[in-house]
Amino acid sequence: MTEANATGGGMRKYVILIIVVAAATAGVTALLLNVAERKAEARTPFVRLAEVGEDTTDPAEWGKNWPKQYDTYKLTALPTKTKFGGHGGSEAMPSQKAEAFPFLTRMFQGYAFAIDYRDRRGHAYMLQDQEETERHKAQQTGSCIHCHASVIPLYRKLGDGDVIAGFEKTYAMTYQETNKMLHDMGNGHAVSCVDCHEPESMTIRVTRPGFLQGIAALAAGDAPVPHLPSIERWRAGNRKQPYDPNADATRTEMRSFVCGQCHVEYYCSDKFKLTFPWAEGLTVENAESVWDATTFENGERFYDYKHKETGAPVLKAQHPEFELWSQGIHARSGVACADCHMPYMRDGATKVSDHWVRSPLLNIARACQTCHHFSEDELKARVENIQTKNFNLLQNGGKAVVDLIDGILEARDQGASDEQIAPALEFQRKAQWRLDYIAAENSMGFHAPQEAARILGEAADLARQGQVAALRWKTGGKVPIAK
Ligand code: HEC
Ligand code: HEC
Ligand code: HEC
Ligand code: HEC
Ligand code: HEC
Repeated sequence: MTEANATGGGMRKYVILIIVVAAATAGVTALLLNVAERKAEARTPFVRLAEVGEDTTDPAEWGKNWPKQYDTYKLTALPTKTKFGGHGGSEAMPSQKAEAFPFLTRMFQGYAFAIDYRDRRGHAYMLQDQEETERHKAQQTGSCIHCHASVIPLYRKLGDGDVIAGFEKTYAMTYQETNKMLHDMGNGHAVSCVDCHEPESMTIRVTRPGFLQGIAALAAGDAPVPHLPSIERWRAGNRKQPYDPNADATRTEMRSFVCGQCHVEYYCSDKFKLTFPWAEGLTVENAESVWDATTFENGERFYDYKHKETGAPVLKAQHPEFELWSQGIHARSGVACADCHMPYMRDGATKVSDHWVRSPLLNIARACQTCHHFSEDELKARVENIQTKNFNLLQNGGKAVVDLIDGILEARDQGASDEQIAPALEFQRKAQWRLDYIAAENSMGFHAPQEAARILGEAADLARQGQVAALRWKTGGKVPIAK
C-alpha cells in the first residue's frame, strides 16, 4: 500500500494541484476579463438605453444612460449649509441677503432687489425660485429664463431653427409669456444634461447665447487673459471666424465655461438683449467702463435704477463668480470651477464627476485635498479666515455707502442744487457698483481674496470721497481755502 498510498498521495496532490491551477487560472481569467471590462467601461462608460437628443431636456431620460451622474445631479435638491454658503432648508425659501447685510436694503431703494433678494440654493430649485420671487411685482423680461431653465429648444423654436435669433427675441417678451411657452413645450426643467453635454459624444459644451457672444467679444478685444490660453492662441491666428469656445477652448477651460454660462455679471431687461459686459475684459472696472459707455435709445447713459432717495443713476451687480475667479490664483494655476465644485469620485476604474454641484467645503477631501496636503480642518480654517475678513470689509463699505446717502440727503435739505450734488451722485454710482459686485459674488471673497479686498477698499474710499463732496457741496467738494 505504500506504493498505492504513494500513488494515491501523488494522485491527491495532483488533483489538488489541478484544482489550484484551475482556480488560479479562473481567477486570473476573471481578473483579466474584469480589467478588460473596466477598460472598455472607461472608454465607453455607458450603455445607451434611451435615445437622447437636442430636444431631450428631461434629465430623467439621460439618467437611464448615465445613472451615476443623474443620481448625484438629483442631490442638488438637498439643503446644505456652511458658515457663509449654501442654504439651510428645502422646505422654506432661503433667507434674505439683507439679514446679513442690512445696508443692501438702503442701497437698493427704488429697485426690485429691495423687495426680495435671497440667498441662492441648489440647482434643482433654479426655475421654481425664479417663478416665485417677489421681484415679479415689477414686470420682468423673457431674458430671465436664459439662466434658470433648459431653454435652448424654446430659442430654436422662436428663431425658426436659429437659436441665436430666438434668443434675441426673448428680451422684448414678458417673463410670463416666455415661461408659459417653456412649460407648454415640456421644457420646464432646471439646468439639464443637454445644456452642458453634446448628446452623441457626451463631451462638455456651452449652449448659452449670452456666453457665446460675451466670450467672443472678450476674445476680439485686447484685455489680457493669461488664464484662458485658447483665447490668446485665437488672437494670434487669422481671426477669420469669431472665437468659438466649443471649437477653440481646451477641456480645462470648458470645465469653467459651462458654469460661466450663468454665474456672471449681466444686463437683463426689456430695453435690449441679455448682455455679458466683457468686451474690455473681466475686471470690475472693465465691466463698469462698458456700462458707462452704453446708452439707451434716448441717448441717456446706461443705469439699472435710479436710487429712490438720492436720484443717483446706479448699477446693480449680479453674481460675478466667473469674473472674480478669473482674477484669482486658482484660475491662473489652471484650476477650474468643476475641480472644486464637481470633483471626481472613483467608481471601479471609471472616474465619475460629482454632479451634486454645491459648496466645496462640504467635500474638502475630494475638492481640495487632491492638491493641498493639509488637514480638512486646516483648509476650512484658511477659507473661513479669508471669508471673515471679506465679510468685515463688506460691512465697512456698507457703512460708508449709507453715510454717503445720508450726506447727500443732508445737502439737499440745506438747499444744494442738482448741479452741486452731481459729483456726490457720481461717487455713489462708483462706490455702490464695487460694493455690490463683491456682495453679489457668492464665494465671500474666496475665489480671489486679494482682488476682492482691493475692490472693497476702493468702494469704501469712493464712498467717503462722495460723502466729503456732499458735505462740501457749496465748494463743489473742495476744501474751502483758509482765510
Ligand atoms: C479652488 C476651488 C474653487 C474654484 C476653482 C471655484 N470655486 Fe466656487 N467656491 C469655492 C469655495 C471654497 C467657496 C465658498 C463655499 C462656502 O462658503 O461654503 C465657493 C463658493 C461658490 C459659490 C457659492 C456656493 C454656496 O454654497 O453658497 C458659487 C455659486 C461658486 N463658488 C461658483 C463657482 C464658479 C462658477 C467657479 C468657476 C468660475 C468657481 N466657483 C470656482 C471654491 C472654488
Ligand atoms: C443655466 C444656468 C446655470 C449653470 C450652467 C450653472 N449654474 Fe450654478 N446656479 C444657477 C442658479 C440659477 C442657481 C441658484 C438656484 C436657486 O437659488 O434657486 C445656482 C446655484 C449654484 C450654487 C449654490 C448651490 C447651493 O446649494 O447653495 C453653486 C455652488 C453653483 N450654482 C455652482 C455652479 C457650477 C460650479 C456650475 C458649473 C459646473 C454651475 N453652477 C452651472 C445657475 C446655473
Ligand atoms: C446670466 C444668467 C442669469 C440671468 C439672465 C438671470 N439669473 Fe437669476 N440667478 C443666476 C444665478 C447664477 C443665480 C445664483 C447665484 C445667486 O443667487 O447670486 C441666480 C439666482 C436667482 C434667484 C435666487 C436668489 C435671489 O436673488 O433671490 C432669483 C429669484 C433669480 N435669480 C431671479 C432672476 C430674475 C427675475 C431674472 C431676470 C430679471 C434672472 N434671475 C436672470 C443667473 C441668472
Ligand atoms: C452645468 C453643467 C453640467 C450639467 C447640467 C451636467 N453635466 Fe455632466 N459633466 C459636466 C462636467 C463639467 C463634466 C466633466 C467633463 C470633463 O472633465 O470632461 C461632466 C461629465 C459628465 C460625464 C462624463 C463622465 C464623468 O462623470 O466625468 C457624464 C456621463 C455626464 N457628465 C452625464 C451627465 C448627465 C446624465 C447629466 C444630467 C443628469 C449631466 N451630466 C448634467 C457638466 C455638467
Ligand atoms: C487642482 C489643484 C487645486 C485644487 C483642487 C485646489 N487648489 Fe488651492 N491652490 C492650488 C494652487 C496651484 C494654488 C496656488 C499656490 C501654489 O502654487 O501652491 C492654490 C492656492 C490656494 C490658496 C492660497 C490662496 C491665495 O490667494 O493665496 C488657498 C487658501 C487654497 N488654495 C485653498 C483651496 C481650497 C479650500 C480648495 C478646495 C475648495 C482648493 N484650494 C482646491 C491648487 C488647487
